[in-house]
Amino acid sequence: MKADINGNIEDIRAVWMEGKTVQMIEQRLLPHKLEIFTARTVDEVCYSIKDMVTRGAPAIGVTAAYGMALAVLTGEDIQDAAKRLKATRPTAYDLFHAVDLMLDKLTDGEEAVSAAEDYANLIVEKCRLIGEYGEPLIPDGGVVLTHCNAGALATVDHGTALAPMRAAHNKGKKIFVFADETRPRLQGAALTSWELVQEGIDHAIIADNAAGHYMLRKEIDLCITGADRITANGDFANKIGTYEKAVVAKENGIPFYVAAPVSTFDFSLASGMDIPIEERDQDEVRVVNGGLICHKDAKARNPAFDVTPARFVAGFITEIGVLKPDEIARLKQS
Ligand code: MRU
Repeated sequence: MKADINGNIEDIRAVWMEGKTVQMIEQRLLPHKLEIFTARTVDEVCYSIKDMVTRGAPAIGVTAAYGMALAVLTGEDIQDAAKRLKATRPTAYDLFHAVDLMLDKLTDGEEAVSAAEDYANLIVEKCRLIGEYGEPLIPDGGVVLTHCNAGALATVDHGTALAPMRAAHNKGKKIFVFADETRPRLQGAALTSWELVQEGIDHAIIADNAAGHYMLRKEIDLCITGADRITANGDFANKIGTYEKAVVAKENGIPFYVAAPVSTFDFSLASGMDIPIEERDQDEVRVVNGGLICHKDAKARNPAFDVTPARFVAGFITEIGVLKPDEIARLKQS
């Protein structure tokens, strides 16, 4: 991804390995500061995922793969490291996919760092292909709505939902993006908008409640989001609020696409209602900019994700093409 670092436009990834460390963009500080967080132990990698220094399903998977490599380099027991990494966040399937894949590779005797690098490079290539397959869905002059951040920050590079938008923009199409701000962690306002500014893609942040207003007025041509886990029947979990956007999109005849690599598909679960949904600290809702926004005794609920049934999905944009929900079984073989 492009990033303005002290006035120089550089091409960087969201997470990478350097010697015996895992380096990642400190996403909690964006958009105000671009700083790098260094994890030197498996525990520090676990912290970086749990506390959302890095986040987004494919990026969590790659960070965990690097964490497994770090376990080998620092002489930790890999089964124990795998268990701790898997306990960080429950919803994004990429985490479990990546850790299990690394366990298989290490058991087969693969060199740890190159196994993790191969995994990271594969994810980056899949996201690039998602961009290529998704780009034709965005017309010249088209207006796209996205929710949360499913950009390069969430996937190491290119993005899933943002990959088709990057590709359309790079092809010279004039596009406009509505980025939902995405309460309570504000990934849309803080991260998606930051990425779009770096790429020079015209956009506006909207309050989460504003999407329906623009859909009813036919000011949005299509929606593209990422996913944290997609089940065998095509239901998917994504950032809280996604379900409402998909329902309103269908009500208004606006196609709703979900962009994700095969590592996000969990064929072991029959339906979205089986997906474990993370509930985070209530203070993510109660506290804004360090200040309480409600009575001190008020409780809050804070589900981080919701599930959208397959019937609301126009297509899954994957690295093998755009598939209808009833076609995703093809991914099992790929
Ligand atoms: O809680 P987060 O920020 O990790 O949630 C991220 C999302 O919901 C993304 O939309 C999803 O992981 C897809 S990322 C390509």
